[in-house]
Amino acid sequence: MKLTVVLAAVAGLALVSIPARAQDQDALLKRGAYLVNGPVACGNCHNARAEDLSFIPGKEFSGGFHIQEEIFDVYTANITPDPDTGIGTWTDEQIITAIREGKTPDGRIIWPPMAVPTYNNMSDDDVKAIVAYLRTVPAVHNEVPESTYKIPQQAMPPAKGAPAPDPSDKVAYGGYIVTALAHCFECHTPFTPEGMPDMTKVGAGGFPIQLAPGIVFVSANITSDPETGLGNWTDDEIKKAIVDGASKDGHALSPPMPFSFFKNMTPEDLDAVVAYVRTIPPVVNKVERSDFQKKAFPGAG
Ligand code: HEC
Ligand code: HEC
Repeated sequence: MKLTVVLAAVAGLALVSIPARAQDQDALLKRGAYLVNGPVACGNCHNARAEDLSFIPGKEFSGGFHIQEEIFDVYTANITPDPDTGIGTWTDEQIITAIREGKTPDGRIIWPPMAVPTYNNMSDDDVKAIVAYLRTVPAVHNEVPESTYKIPQQAMPPAKGAPAPDPSDKVAYGGYIVTALAHCFECHTPFTPEGMPDMTKVGAGGFPIQLAPGIVFVSANITSDPETGLGNWTDDEIKKAIVDGASKDGHALSPPMPFSFFKNMTPEDLDAVVAYVRTIPPVVNKVERSDFQKKAFPGAG
């Protein structure tokens, strides 16, 4: 009698544990889809783009976007599950190492410009969610040309994978989004003459992002300086810039700021980002947009 009860209980457990695991998998995929199509914006670099820089429908994550700076000439990789030209044969661990440490299974280093220093801070849960989601995107066969670098490259140290801060701590969680997921500072921090991010000017902008000779986008000052940064902007004005690509004076902001991804952020995450951005120490740095930006995305200059 007793044994039957135990067996029945075990059988019952087995029955409930299957849907529970399916639920975990669902939650993981949902989180991964949110991150990739929202704050992390992998597709901003990895989607194929037309000449006018718009994304080519049906070629999401299939790579080939060309970025030609003085120090490198890169084509973004195909990160769809295609087994021949994508990452379909890579293990989860191999993909995680590529994202957080910038190293491929055959030992190539894949950054800059991939935001590996940011992703090095990503939690284990979030990087697993991203990999789970990437496995579900449609495979696209797309052979991408090889990237070349004129600077020495180095993998990032092994990631710690610490859990994200609790979202109830808005500034800390916003800091996690900005420094582990959304790579705001990779674009918004100027470089020293030696080619390293200038840590005395975090967020000060003025960094020229070159896609090709003559096609240059200068990033904005997002520090809390009232004159040259965001110190005088309201929360709503900052949100409008991040999700609609509209500057305080109403002019259109240019790519490669990933508005179309950031607009998928939850209101809570967007609030947290703004709360954190408000804490970036002020740096006086008046930024002048590039001639190309002024012409292609007219505005106040
Ligand atoms: C700023 C642009 C940029 C962003 C953002 C970016 N990547 Fe990349 N990524 C690249 C480039 C460029 C390469 C190819 C580098 C090379 O081949 O040397 C690459 C390579 C890779 C590779 C290696 C694939 C291979 O076949 O070698 C993986 C995996 C990858 N990226 C995943 C991601 C994921 C996931 C995200 C979002 C979390 C992401 N990347 C965000 C630019 C970017
Ligand atoms: C891939 C590069 C890139 C990333 C990532 C990026 N930005 Fe930007 N951002 C830009 C560029 C370039 C501009 C300037 C556009 C222009 O002037 O037309 C800009 C403009 C802005 C502006 C408007 C400021 C002004 O004075 O007009 C704000 C606010 C901003 N970014 C905040 C952020 C935040 C917060 C994040 C992260 C959540 C972020 N950006 C991520 C490139 C980027």
